[in-house]
Amino acid sequence: MRIIFITGVSRGLGAALTRILDNDETQIIGFSRSKGEFEGVFHSCDFSKPELAASTLDQAFQEADLKNADSITFISNAGQLSPLDFIDRLDIADIHENLTSNLVGSSIALSRFIKYTGDLDKPKLFIQISSGVALPERVKPGWSLYCAAKAGQEQLIRTVATEQSHVPHPAKVINLNPGVMETAMQQLIRSTPKSSFPGVDRFIQMKEEGKVVDPSVIAGRIANAIDDYDSLESGKTYVEAEFQAN
Ligand SMILES: NC(=O)c1ccc[n+]([C@@H]2O[C@H](COP(=O)([O-])OP(=O)(O)OC[C@H]3O[C@@H](n4cnc5c(N)ncnc54)[C@H](OP(=O)(O)O)[C@@H]3O)[C@@H](O)[C@H]2O)c1
Repeated sequence: MRIIFITGVSRGLGAALTRILDNDETQIIGFSRSKGEFEGVFHSCDFSKPELAASTLDQAFQEADLKNADSITFISNAGQLSPLDFIDRLDIADIHENLTSNLVGSSIALSRFIKYTGDLDKPKLFIQISSGVALPERVKPGWSLYCAAKAGQEQLIRTVATEQSHVPHPAKVINLNPGVMETAMQQLIRSTPKSSFPGVDRFIQMKEEGKVVDPSVIAGRIANAIDDYDSLESGKTYVEAEFQAN
């Protein structure tokens, strides 16, 4: 039996991952604020409230049968794009919420994952769902917090990969850029006024040209990445296209 933890299971990519990864040999443990149609072991969790999120993760790891699992995977997928606007027009509370739920949330998840699996000698994989906007040349005006959080998440993974090279039973930790998918996040982008996101027309055009893929396609590629554990390189940032679609 493999155990797969996934954050952000209520919709979008997270919901697609739960559907594609679910089988008789897999236990899926999910986290988000709402449950959506998720049918596995569910923990209500708000990553913008770090102390509560940490204790929810502690409980989930303590309850899971990690010792008898064949492998343990954690997909840090939950993400918040909003607020979208130029930085001087953002509320302090919104700034705090975005960076906390994205960057602090991922850091807490990775910290708990390493803490509870550190002594176990078996395949252990932490996947941070990233974004092209983590790259210096891909930043978008109006998306400053999200860009900062995604760049921070990627550097977090690279740093922890170096830490893991010093321990007896290292986990593999990777970033994975899923590309552009048709989810609530894309709908939010396309509905943002140009005054807040000057690049909005390109996203509307991508949708019109059929370039925004269904998240189930990306979920299939991520499932193949998990199956390809032995060839994954810890600390690396992968793009979804590097893995075969089902
Ligand atoms: N869609 C794209 O084109 C695209 C492109 C590049 C990267 N990504 C990345 O892909 C991942 C999935 O995005 P998506 O497009 O599927 O987004 P989505 O449809 O907006 O879904 C986001 C998920 O994250 C959860 N979430 C958000 N804030 C949370 C919080 N504070 N605490 C707990 N859970 C929270 C949501 O659940 P609740 O609201 O129920 O809590 C939901 O399940 C994200 O990391 C995103 O940055 C997406």
